[in-house]
Amino acid sequence: MTVDKPLVVLTGAGISAESGVPTFRGQDGIWQDYRAEDLATPIAFERDPELVWRFYAWRRELVSGCQPNQAHHLLVDLEIKSSQFTLITQNVDGLHKIAGSQNVLELHGSLWELQCTNCKSKWPNHDVPFAEFPPLCPFCSSLARPAVIWFGESLNPDTLDRAFKVSSNAATMLVIGTSALVHPAAQLPIIAQLNGASVIEINPEETPLSSRMDEIFRTSATEGVKRWYDQQYWVD
Ligand code: OAD
Repeated sequence: MTVDKPLVVLTGAGISAESGVPTFRGQDGIWQDYRAEDLATPIAFERDPELVWRFYAWRRELVSGCQPNQAHHLLVDLEIKSSQFTLITQNVDGLHKIAGSQNVLELHGSLWELQCTNCKSKWPNHDVPFAEFPPLCPFCSSLARPAVIWFGESLNPDTLDRAFKVSSNAATMLVIGTSALVHPAAQLPIIAQLNGASVIEINPEETPLSSRMDEIFRTSATEGVKRWYDQQYWVD
């Protein structure tokens, strides 16, 4: 059975937590041990590109040892069952694509894509470890950077535009594993709801969005997605 109404899913680091990828905030979050200002801003990269690249090389190595979990896989199944499905993720780990999700908007870019600091070309790169370090542009030999959005940078306008459009048209939006503290991603559930969507949060912790949610699963991503999935009418 397929679902005709537009279904949009917004994910954050929490969906990958059960795969072993650390979240950013909270007790074991990356930003507890590292300062975002030193590692995830254009100024930090200008000051010390090798330090920033070591941080991203470490994250690539960590993620390359992780597998998508049941929540990632159930979202693939939901996409197959839905005629209008969009997955918007803030995650750069690539696990949704590895699981098999097709219509994915990677709002904050990808750990697995590099961009030239000079000619601005982008290309995929899955080397762990890197063949050359720090990596260089294959077209003009200038220094490459991770094709991720750093603090203080704007999101890709086309990707953001599509995210706002699908959110405005959503009938249902699942918001999974995000602290909802980073904008503009955190605005998408509000846009969806203001345009008539039913918005459901799956997160073991309360977030700034919680008070306005239509339904909440106060549990992990794997458990919450399964419980929501099992409630839908395609299940026997
Ligand atoms: P955060 O680290 O801010 O939040 C992770 C959320 O996941 C929290 O609300 C946790 O309660 C929740 N969580 C933890 N374990 C979970 C589990 N097993 N199942 C479900 N939820 C769980 O991550 P994001 O909201 O994704 O930006 O952070 C947004 C952005 O801030 C990131 O994309 C990154 C970061 O700085 C950039 O890199 C630009």
